[in-house]
Amino acid sequence: MKVYISMSYDLVALLLVIISLWCIETKAQATMQQLRVQQYLKRLNKSTIKSIKSPDGDIIDCVHIYHQPAFDHPLLENHTIQMRPSILPSGLYDENEVASKMEGSSIPQHWHQNGRCPEDTIPIRRTKKDELLSVSSIERHGKKRHGTIPNATSADAEEFAVVYATGEYYGAKAIINVWNPTVARPHDFSASALWVMAGPFDQFNAVEAGWHVHPGLYGDNKTRLFTSWTIDGYTSTGCYNLLCSGFIQVNNDIALGSDISPISSYGGRQYEITLLISKDPKTGNWWLQFGNLSPLGYWPSSLFHDLSDSASLIEWGGQVANRQVGGGQYPSTMMGSGHVPEQGFGKASYFKNIQIVDQFNDLRAPPQGTKTITTNPSCYHVRYANNYIYYGGPGSNPSCP
Ligand SMILES: *[C@@H]1O[C@H](CO)[C@@H](O)[C@H](O)[C@H]1NC(C)=O
Ligand SMILES: *[C@@H]1O[C@H](CO)[C@@H](O)[C@H](O)[C@H]1NC(C)=O
Ligand SMILES: *[C@@H]1O[C@H](CO)[C@@H](O)[C@H](O)[C@H]1NC(C)=O
Ligand SMILES: *[C@@H]1O[C@H](CO)[C@@H](O)[C@H](O)[C@H]1NC(C)=O
Repeated sequence: MKVYISMSYDLVALLLVIISLWCIETKAQATMQQLRVQQYLKRLNKSTIKSIKSPDGDIIDCVHIYHQPAFDHPLLENHTIQMRPSILPSGLYDENEVASKMEGSSIPQHWHQNGRCPEDTIPIRRTKKDELLSVSSIERHGKKRHGTIPNATSADAEEFAVVYATGEYYGAKAIINVWNPTVARPHDFSASALWVMAGPFDQFNAVEAGWHVHPGLYGDNKTRLFTSWTIDGYTSTGCYNLLCSGFIQVNNDIALGSDISPISSYGGRQYEITLLISKDPKTGNWWLQFGNLSPLGYWPSSLFHDLSDSASLIEWGGQVANRQVGGGQYPSTMMGSGHVPEQGFGKASYFKNIQIVDQFNDLRAPPQGTKTITTNPSCYHVRYANNYIYYGGPGSNPSCP
């Protein structure tokens, strides 16, 4: 493992842990997952008030807000839904924000063409049966112990090219350029996300949101909005969207896992989404806001140990899973736009206006000393300057054998 830019041992260790532990699957887990997905589908079926067929082939089930998957979590048994954040971070609406709101408003949800979810329901993208086996993890709480995790084999690889800030934080924000990178093989994925993390390396708490191309999860190569969370470094907890209980959605217009379009084109028009994760100073819940900053939902503070107070690490950037690499051949799964940062605006993928939320609930530029790291600099690059992050790469290429 080569690390591009010198950084503290702690962060190297943290990244190595993330890389080695992320979504390692065994057959036994797959069977258990299948069972759990069946239960999940059955339960949703009972609570579905209306189903909408999206022109893109997805089916959206409108499920009563109090029957959403979160309420299967034992800690959320008596949870009362918080419908809106009590206080938003200040500094949310600057000039750039207005511009990006206009951009953002051109990113529709396809299924709206055929209907909307009524009040008191939330839209849940229906998992198709053939997607079940590949789901990275469905509610594995308490089932998988740290000691039993198979080590990452040489066949598994996760690559990151990110900017990170360490300190005491209460959230983070970014405007993220949207692309449709080629994912070379069915079990690879390519994600661009914002991570909010705390805790020890092997058991860290994290919430994340962004876009990804993940054929193993959705059965296609579309770019989709996603979230995920974990309380133990993705060892026994950690899954996407609403596929396990935890995240509480309040928004009846935006379906997690739905595709994002239009997509930026090389040398052409650029499209962006805005994401904000911030801790509600009154309730302690971690809110996620999307698009024109409408509250999508939140991770209740009671889910977390380390993130119950504040975050200690924020990351922005790209992640690629290149699994089952054989014969020394590096796969051609792209990160970002599939072009390196050196190509610049309109060609390389970017994050802009990255910000953190401080202890006064103010949005601010990241601190001095915010650094970059790339785990495989011959394949994926990252550059950070003037509050733009450019990152990505094509995967396999002459310098990335
Ligand atoms: C819901 O239940 C009905 C009746 O049992 C069945 O026909 C339908 O396929 C189910 N839908 C899902 C998504 O499981
Ligand atoms: C929910 O309420 C019941 C009845 O008051 C109580 O027994 C139970 O412990 C509560 N659950 C949680 C997770 O607080
Ligand atoms: C870990 O990797 C080594 C070397 O590839 C292998 O010999 C060992 O069996 C692995 N351990 C587990 C628990 O998979
Ligand atoms: C996704 O893209 C890869 C690489 O171009 C292709 O091989 C694969 O068939 C595509 N998968 C689907 C489901 O379209």
